[in-house]
Amino acid sequence: SKGTYPYYMLKEIDEQPAVMRRIVDAYLPADGSVSVDPALVQALDQADRLYIVAAGTSYHAGLVGARLFEEVAGLPAEAYLASEFGYHMPLLSQHPFFLLLSQSGETADSREVLVKVKKMGYPVLTMTNTAGSTLSREADYTMLLHAGPEIAVASTKAYTAQIGVQAVLAKALGMYRQQPAANDFALRHQLSIAAAGMQTLVDEKDQIKNLVGQYMPDQHDAFYIGRGADYPLSLEAALKLKEVSYVHTEGFAAGELKHGTIALISEDTPVLAFITDDATAAHTRSNLQETEARGAHTLSIVSEHLAEPTDNIVLPDVDPRLSALVGIIPAQLIAYYTALGKGLDVDKPRNLAKSVTVE
Ligand code: F6R
Repeated sequence: SKGTYPYYMLKEIDEQPAVMRRIVDAYLPADGSVSVDPALVQALDQADRLYIVAAGTSYHAGLVGARLFEEVAGLPAEAYLASEFGYHMPLLSQHPFFLLLSQSGETADSREVLVKVKKMGYPVLTMTNTAGSTLSREADYTMLLHAGPEIAVASTKAYTAQIGVQAVLAKALGMYRQQPAANDFALRHQLSIAAAGMQTLVDEKDQIKNLVGQYMPDQHDAFYIGRGADYPLSLEAALKLKEVSYVHTEGFAAGELKHGTIALISEDTPVLAFITDDATAAHTRSNLQETEARGAHTLSIVSEHLAEPTDNIVLPDVDPRLSALVGIIPAQLIAYYTALGKGLDVDKPRNLAKSVTVE
């Protein structure tokens, strides 16, 4: 039940620190090991490339996960849209391994891919929030997200859970492969720090509510921008805002704006930038200033160690590989309060269903 919450979406946003702690309890014992099916880790070790396939928010979690598998486990990985992959498969590597990410485990586009690659004889892992779901039953391996039932149509806690559980698997594989990056990645500790950071942000939700009052009323368009790890985060932030508030929002690689889309920036267009990535922080800042010079109403969401006094939202510092876990919280809250302010049914946006069972 919603308890005292007006909407499930807000309840599910608030639950995310607890979900991270459940993932820690389920997969990361105190002795520093990782409890993942050894047969799965061995099968993944045989792979020369990981194909992460998903839709919507789960695809955005896959974009974050692909980096984790490359950085932590040294396994080349790429995320694909299920609705495209099913019909135009890229030239596969010699030993592909498939990871299907699906909160519901019932998404038809993802199932289509599963059926095809199983027929081709390739190993498949489903990460899902729903034990016994179709995708879970039909895959060779399953890992549960432990997010608990997600009722709001807009996915929040399943996104962060998918990042957490992909980090778990990347760590398990990296340790099996004796990758220094995996041995040095104290994931149990780092996920706990991330959970604490997420808690700080959900506790500061009134600050976000105030910013929404200043930035979002009567806007037709908005942009989220970021580079590096902040780019996939921008895509998810934009999807959240557009789907619940109906503000047309695009997520952009910050450097791409000036290659065309900056033409859309006019007086008071909200441009929200994520700055969590040391390597790209200075460039994203200057891109944000370029939009401000064209009249944009800019808002910066910045990691503590990169923050300047004029920044609008400060994210508690976490391991940079997990920055999306804290970065997405303000964006989820911005989406929520924007929709609430417009009097919309936050949990049931128009035209959307919780699981999309047609292709
Ligand atoms: C967005 C959202 C959708 C789903 C997508 C995939 O908030 O909920 O984009 O992420 O339909 O659904 P699952 O993960 O159930 O396969």
